[in-house]
Amino acid sequence: MYTFPHRNILDADQFTKMDLDYLIETTNKMKEIYSSNRAFGILRGKLLASLFFEASTRTRLSFESAMERLGGRVISTVGFQFSSISKGETLYDTMKMIEAYADIAVIRHPLEGSSRIAAGAVKMPVINAGDGAGQHPTQALLDLYTIKSEKGKIDDITIGFIGDLKYGRTIHSLIKLLKYYKVHVYLISPEELVLPDSYKKDLAGYPITYEETRDIKVIWDCDVIYVTRIQEERFADHKEYEKLKETYKVNKELILASRKETTILHPLPRVTELSTDLDDLPNAAYFRQAEYGVVSRMTLLCLCLGVNIPN
Ligand code: NCD
Repeated sequence: MYTFPHRNILDADQFTKMDLDYLIETTNKMKEIYSSNRAFGILRGKLLASLFFEASTRTRLSFESAMERLGGRVISTVGFQFSSISKGETLYDTMKMIEAYADIAVIRHPLEGSSRIAAGAVKMPVINAGDGAGQHPTQALLDLYTIKSEKGKIDDITIGFIGDLKYGRTIHSLIKLLKYYKVHVYLISPEELVLPDSYKKDLAGYPITYEETRDIKVIWDCDVIYVTRIQEERFADHKEYEKLKETYKVNKELILASRKETTILHPLPRVTELSTDLDDLPNAAYFRQAEYGVVSRMTLLCLCLGVNIPN
């Protein structure tokens, strides 16, 4: 019998193909339980510490919604200015203390590797909700679940990643999960924002294949496209951001020129890279993607807490 082996979720690297199969299956089960109003109460008596030291709307609210929909409760801190970190407290000390207040913590922090420091300080489970330009593993899990739900499969599809592949942490995590599948990936970005070598090196020996290009027209060959925002906040030189910010614009005209029914994903928020004229297309799946985030995170909260999900 398979048992989910993870207490913390820190890096997409930690998952095996078996974990992913189990997560997809369990999220399907959670979706069913939730839509038949049987989810409330599963996490009754549990408390989530929601620690967001960097901007967030979807990730924070979907975690908090997931916890509350399971009957658990939430305590939270948002931004450095309102936490004792602004008085010089270390993340280690903050976590030590929060452990006395909550059963599980979700943390977003601008420093790469911060969630590992946080997890190292405590015995309670810690979930990485984005660490700088590093990883965003729960977004990747919900993205994978979205692809499976929208396309009915993950193998034998072509996926285009578009935009900021250098700093975009959602892509850094998602490609680590997709490597287990027979997918072909186009990495579409300006020269300055290509996927870092370390991520490409990790793909060797797995079923995934990829090619890098600057040409957005390859999306006409894609079953799924995953558009990303140029990550303004990560640029050391703002002029460089200004130069690159409008490199790609995915709009209705471009999408309708394709012969394929391309599913359009975006982790959101969008700026100018994804036109609102796409929103009424049935294959524009980015708002559904955000919706899948709630059931995905409901599943993860239960599994990390070691709480049984009833049938
Ligand atoms: C992403 C993030 O924070 O990395 N957003 C999200 O979590 N849904 C993407 C982004 O900010 O561009």
